[in-house]
Amino acid sequence: TKNHSYTFTIFGGTGDLTYRKLLPALYNLFVSKQLIAFQIVIIGRRNYQHDEYCEIANGWIRQFVRLPYNDDSFREFCEHLYYYQMDFTQEAAYADLHAFYSAHNMHEHIFYFAVAPRFFELIAKGLTHVPDARQGRVVIEKPFGKDLASARELNAQLEAFFAPDQIYHIDHYLGKEMVRNIQTIRFMNPIFANIWNHDYIENIQISAMEEVGVETRGSYYDQSGALKDMVQNHLFQILSIVAMEPMRDNSREEMHRCQLDALKHLRKASALKLEDTLILAQYDGYLKEKDVAADSKTETYAALRLFIDNERWQGTPFYIRTGKKLDRREMEIIITFKRPLPTADPNILIIKIQPTEGVYVRFNIKKPGNSEEIVPASMDFCQSCQEINRINTPEAYERLLMAVALGDASWFSQWDQIETSWEYVDQLKQRAINEFLPIHVYQPGSEGPNEAAALLAKQGHEWFNQE
Ligand code: BG6
Repeated sequence: TKNHSYTFTIFGGTGDLTYRKLLPALYNLFVSKQLIAFQIVIIGRRNYQHDEYCEIANGWIRQFVRLPYNDDSFREFCEHLYYYQMDFTQEAAYADLHAFYSAHNMHEHIFYFAVAPRFFELIAKGLTHVPDARQGRVVIEKPFGKDLASARELNAQLEAFFAPDQIYHIDHYLGKEMVRNIQTIRFMNPIFANIWNHDYIENIQISAMEEVGVETRGSYYDQSGALKDMVQNHLFQILSIVAMEPMRDNSREEMHRCQLDALKHLRKASALKLEDTLILAQYDGYLKEKDVAADSKTETYAALRLFIDNERWQGTPFYIRTGKKLDRREMEIIITFKRPLPTADPNILIIKIQPTEGVYVRFNIKKPGNSEEIVPASMDFCQSCQEINRINTPEAYERLLMAVALGDASWFSQWDQIETSWEYVDQLKQRAINEFLPIHVYQPGSEGPNEAAALLAKQGHEWFNQE
């Protein structure tokens, strides 16, 4: 399939996502010879000449490319680029687009909607004037809706024009190297696979800490908040992979079935005691950020304590935390096993997703010497510390774009997963509002609000921070 001639059309071709992620990823795929026969049609409203656009693209690609940049290969890459000026909100303009495709013999389409979701329907409708689009693929990004109702509406709009298996929902966390490694670490090691359940696991933490604040995205973020921005999508995806039942085969259907099954077994939000479940907080200074309402109640931090009520997980809490303006950028999954003795430390397994990619294991040994004391020892494997691994590890977007080209939707969100997660997050949010859950304040550069530590302390647990 590699030699199919794909046409990637990017709506929103002069936006941030295109410049920072899509073009660098496509360039990497080109340089590493994964994409051979392809064209990229950049759709924008501005009047750029081909060379002008290439010049701009060049600046971004140099800045964000992963593989060594070189002028000759960029020049070749640019021959695959077409800038197409168009107002994509005008339905009449799509007949011309179709004529353009035909004139260039472009028939196998991948449409990337790198635009605000309010334009999805317009573009989908416009593409009915491009007959080849009926066999094409559509790639969309989050935010997919702002709650369950709007997500359903959006989905109905898209599905009026495209079949579900033509629609690829990108969740860029599913392209990250160590997220792709969770199942191997879990299932290919009997030392973990056989004890991956509530009998042996005390608690599971999914921790996604960011150093950055809302930066220039205030108007989007203030309408969203940590639960909708991170938990509903990225962190629920990870949760479902960590918690899912073993797959019976490696098909995409089975992957999605197992993920969905885990999400469906989340203990109902209505059955949880809210103050033992959810901590919301805002960093001090958030209200002064650009495009943020002066009296905003939007959370920039969320900590959750959830349960999956199936045979495997009964009683094991899943702790999730995520926030902005924290003391570090660090994304990890931390599995704490039950103690063999009340006096011994627990075994701990950490899957490190970023910035370090690796695996950490802590175990017990006898203190060296004459003492019989039990002390913890650890092994810390850093995969990304080796240059060769860094070079060979594709960026999330490279992996995902290539998967779209190959028609492999395994590592994309499915509509029913999105729907289930929205439903859950909506219910939690609604309870937070109805029950006047406080929005705490935390200091920028801290580990988050004290209340998040207290949430776990009440259960005799703590957020694990590697010393
Ligand atoms: C995005 C969120 O989906 O993910 C951002 O909208 C967040 O708020 C980002 O910063 C985090 O992605 P990464 O890859 O930097 O961990």
